[in-house]
Amino acid sequence: MSKLIRGGRVLDPASGLDDFHDILVVGRVIKAVGPPGSLDSELQGSTEIIEAEGLWVVPGLIDLHTHLREPGEEYKETILTGSRAAAAGGFTSVCSMPNTKPVNDNSSVTDLIFRRAAEADLVRVFPVGAISQGQRGEVLAEYGELKEAGAVAVSDDGQAVMNSQLMRRALEYAQVFDLPVISHAEDRDLAADGVMNESLVSTRLGLREIPSAAEDVMVFRDCSLAELTGGQLHIAHVSSGGSVELVRQFKARGVRVTAEATPHHFTLTDEALEDFDTNLKVNPPIRSSKDLTAILQGLADGTIDAIATDHAPHSTIEKDVEFDYAAFGMIGLETALPLTLQLVEKGILSPLEALSKLTCNPAKILGLELGRLSSGLQADITLIDPLREFTVDVNLFRSKSRNSPFHGWKLKGCAVVVLRDGKVIFRD
Ligand code: DOR
Ligand code: ZN
Repeated sequence: MSKLIRGGRVLDPASGLDDFHDILVVGRVIKAVGPPGSLDSELQGSTEIIEAEGLWVVPGLIDLHTHLREPGEEYKETILTGSRAAAAGGFTSVCSMPNTKPVNDNSSVTDLIFRRAAEADLVRVFPVGAISQGQRGEVLAEYGELKEAGAVAVSDDGQAVMNSQLMRRALEYAQVFDLPVISHAEDRDLAADGVMNESLVSTRLGLREIPSAAEDVMVFRDCSLAELTGGQLHIAHVSSGGSVELVRQFKARGVRVTAEATPHHFTLTDEALEDFDTNLKVNPPIRSSKDLTAILQGLADGTIDAIATDHAPHSTIEKDVEFDYAAFGMIGLETALPLTLQLVEKGILSPLEALSKLTCNPAKILGLELGRLSSGLQADITLIDPLREFTVDVNLFRSKSRNSPFHGWKLKGCAVVVLRDGKVIFRD
């Protein structure tokens, strides 16, 4: 079965292509990309035409940081519901973080994730294995076993690795298997039992605070350890200006470090917490306008390589409680694209720059042959209507959870057709 995606503006950040082109998909792969009309001779009677006039045609989006909650917390999300949310958000690949119950620190959990993802048959799910057994920060997990089972990285996300020696060994051991180490950079003693960013706002609201230094000191430690070991380090959800500057400096020194920022950290400031919406309680916390400006600068100058959702579903049981008791996390798969496009609208990123942070850059960090539109590659393609305006309604989300602070926001730009392996996995 073949498909011709016709008349769209094709944006492929990996090659720099930004032009009106047609794309021919045969079976699971991209057969050809060419100027309008140039592929018509390849049309067969059975070719499905997908009209893309007025649309952007881009590589399927890749999320480096998704919590799918299966196994163990299926009341919040399952691999099936999370995959539906991802596809609706324009994603064709997501990385599932290991803080499930049980933790993904061995091949049986990794196998289960692959089985469930295959049953869903929507987006690609790339499991991230744990750095340490049970994410307890004491003993390393078996990276060879995780790699063989298909894990693409290791991380103790949700938990900081407090033991510097263990982190050093993780960076050394992971190199043997070509696995990046994803750091949830947080000094737990400094963060203590804080619930929001330390600032005048936390003083005013009377909420316990998490200083940005809790992140900065660990970003410095992990970059130093990457320099010492030569390991590949990726800093998850950068929230502070200090972290951005540290990553910039270590990159300049040639250290193998990359970083991601989330849409909530590049869109919101801690002022938004004034009405105690627990959906705004995330870890790391949403910080000051100065931090926000630094993150935008980091995205613009390439210090921050990727945009990742940190999609963290929680039910009303965890969120419909006092701020102090609410769980950390917000969902993000179904709002990440329009929030990223706001950066284009504001002139902070060009369309190709913005898309690179959701396609070829995450693919490169993981060493995956994805995130590009070249003939011969798997046909993971997202069609975006960049002008469609809509009001975010959490009740329409495919995710099983509703914990988004963006409910009621007017946003612009969304996925309208999504193909993975040439198969339509979402159409609006
Ligand atoms: O806000 C967060 N939620 N931050 C994390 O690091 C973990 C995540 C979760 O799993 O809920
Ligand atoms: Zn995290």
